[in-house]
Amino acid sequence: MKVLVVGGGGREHALVWKIARSPLVSKVYSAPGNAGIAEEAEAIDIAAGDVASLLGFAKDSGIDLTVVGPEVPLVAGIVDKFQEEGLKIFGPRQHAANLEGSKAYSKMLMKSAGIPTARFKILSDLSAAKDYAEVTGAPIVIKASGLAAGKGVYVCKTIEEAHEAIDVVMKERIFGTAGDSVIIEECLTGEEASILAFVDGHAIFSLESSQDHKRAFDGDKGPNTGGMGAYSPAPVVTDRVMRQVERDVLVPVAYASNRNGCPYRGILYAGLMITEEGPSVLEFNVRFGDPETQPILMRMKSDIMEPILAVIDGSLADVAIEWDERPAVCVVMASGGYPGKYEKGKEITGIEEAEALGDVKVFHAGTALAGDKLVTNGGRVLGVTALGDTIAAAKERAYEAVGRIHFDGAHFRSDIADRAIRRA
Ligand code: AMP
Ligand code: GLY
Repeated sequence: MKVLVVGGGGREHALVWKIARSPLVSKVYSAPGNAGIAEEAEAIDIAAGDVASLLGFAKDSGIDLTVVGPEVPLVAGIVDKFQEEGLKIFGPRQHAANLEGSKAYSKMLMKSAGIPTARFKILSDLSAAKDYAEVTGAPIVIKASGLAAGKGVYVCKTIEEAHEAIDVVMKERIFGTAGDSVIIEECLTGEEASILAFVDGHAIFSLESSQDHKRAFDGDKGPNTGGMGAYSPAPVVTDRVMRQVERDVLVPVAYASNRNGCPYRGILYAGLMITEEGPSVLEFNVRFGDPETQPILMRMKSDIMEPILAVIDGSLADVAIEWDERPAVCVVMASGGYPGKYEKGKEITGIEEAEALGDVKVFHAGTALAGDKLVTNGGRVLGVTALGDTIAAAKERAYEAVGRIHFDGAHFRSDIADRAIRRA
């Protein structure tokens, strides 16, 4: 089969790397890809959000299957468009993708299906929103309802902060129409975890658990980022928690989507707070997580094409996935200044030396070629991922690999996986 992977970050590099290893696959294309992806797939210069050009390319090149990485094309309806043209594509259709595209839709679905989530109110009037925040009291969480590239969430310790957040989202409109309404919700406490599952409209198949590190600096300090590192499995997700999430979150979403007339097919990502009362949903994403996918796929021993095709055919119940028992840790190396302003074009060296350690894979995110030099080309640059016999060993190997890589201004956290190590 010829497979097209849409996107060009670390998640897509991991997907391309894994898909290219399938005996069912003869060739992988990636749009737009990055310098690392271009070593394992043919990179096509089409942006991930340019659905019309992607469709044209898939038709002209006889693509047998398209796998979508990022949320933007899914929410824009890329799956509906490909299917209308008779093309095979992995991901939810537009209506179902609202689970990520609209936090209001997602919260209403959770409420109607009895899925555990923070108490909330949806408000589209600025002064009503401020009044509600005032009455509820701090700490309180303010969220822009629409897509905001993971940046539309404000966890506010005081009412003043909450009022400021409401102004930024609804008055200054820094996220545009994503701020037409806000979700104001109860602040939950606990440890976060990500559960990703294949869903084929009826059956669900959970992947191994993982934990992201969203803040920029050690000790979960600093601003939120796209994710500074991840590990799998997450010890906070015990077997009992996993079964609770399947029963109380994933299955109800599949059934509720069916009731809403939009069967869910693809990867469903539940961002969870594991509270003292049990798991509670912070958000849904309708795609693989980034960087969670990097350590998860590093541990997947079986062919990823089997569950992907089974989701499309509705035969997920017949699939099994084999895992490497060893934990994996992914450390993101970012450009100095990220998630704020940063420079591009810094030369990157040492990737081969890092991978020579063994059980290490360096996934590229923001990289490009300048002549024959590998250079930085984005905020998150690399996802240095390692397996180890224990989570501590995986961490040690990942950081040893990081130590062999160099680019000017490189910034990374030094405490990825520490929470899991403390638990162990
Ligand atoms: P989200 O994009 O909705 O996952 O939110 C981004 C981050 O904000 C989450 O990873 C949490 O750290 C935090 N967050 C979101 N909602 C809540 C909540 N209700 N209580 C506490 N923290 C939250
Ligand atoms: N790692 C968070 C996300 O993919 O949204």
